[in-house]
Amino acid sequence: MDGHNQYPPMMGMPALREAVAAHDKRCYGIEVDWRTEVLVTSGATEALFDCFMGLLEVGDEVVLLEPAYDTYAPVIRRLGAVPRPVRLVPPTWSLPHDELVAAFSPRTKMIVLNTPMNPTGKVFTRAELAFLAELAIRHDVFVVCDEVYEHLTFGAVQHIPLMTLPGMRERTVRIGSAGKTFSITGWKVGYITGPATPPTAMMLARRLDWAALLRRVFGDDVTRCPRCGDHLRVLAFLTHPDVTARILLRRHGLKA
Ligand SMILES: Cc1ncc(COP(=O)(O)O)c(C=O)c1O
Repeated sequence: MDGHNQYPPMMGMPALREAVAAHDKRCYGIEVDWRTEVLVTSGATEALFDCFMGLLEVGDEVVLLEPAYDTYAPVIRRLGAVPRPVRLVPPTWSLPHDELVAAFSPRTKMIVLNTPMNPTGKVFTRAELAFLAELAIRHDVFVVCDEVYEHLTFGAVQHIPLMTLPGMRERTVRIGSAGKTFSITGWKVGYITGPATPPTAMMLARRLDWAALLRRVFGDDVTRCPRCGDHLRVLAFLTHPDVTARILLRRHGLKA
């Protein structure tokens, strides 16, 4: 019974939250307080659900850039909110500026941005991010940034978190996935970093309400954070990225 065999704290084990905050600082210069601004989730899937569930009200509109990852729209609709799809323009998947501007209304609450993007592989440029940031600020909306592929870029292409752009720290929620970063998708460990402002605090509170409700209906197992052991293993990956990279390269038959 001793050791890490009981429920982890609802926000995730402190050491892992510290490591996520340190990762954000190391990789992007983002300063987050691990005590209040980092939440460990059951994969990015739960993180997305938490953001939608916590931040959206019935009738709110959400701007989605399409082709989009397939879980966004059904969850948003199920919550009584309304997806407003804007299709990127192939073959480069560029932003259609006029259509994007026209997609906003007084009911718009959120933009969902997935970069690097599934399924197109697009990595949004700083100029595109600046355009989105300007719209988010002008319409006073949140941006939920699904950045699960943040470390899967190639060549000179660089992933830029929207959160690093001026004015975006307070309105951006950033989602990462240890599953994608370290090729351990079966462990379902994800994380959210976001501002500890009232809306995000409400999101956390609602997550607790939501978890409590599900637990009453289905029992304890369904809504916990991932297992403590998985928190600790991901902690090791995050704190030793060089070793991790070598292991992954070797696993794929590439030279370390
Ligand atoms: C864009 C995107 N977001 C989220 C997820 C879910 O990630 P996780 O396995 O951490 O729940 C996936 C998985 O394919 C994805 O492609």
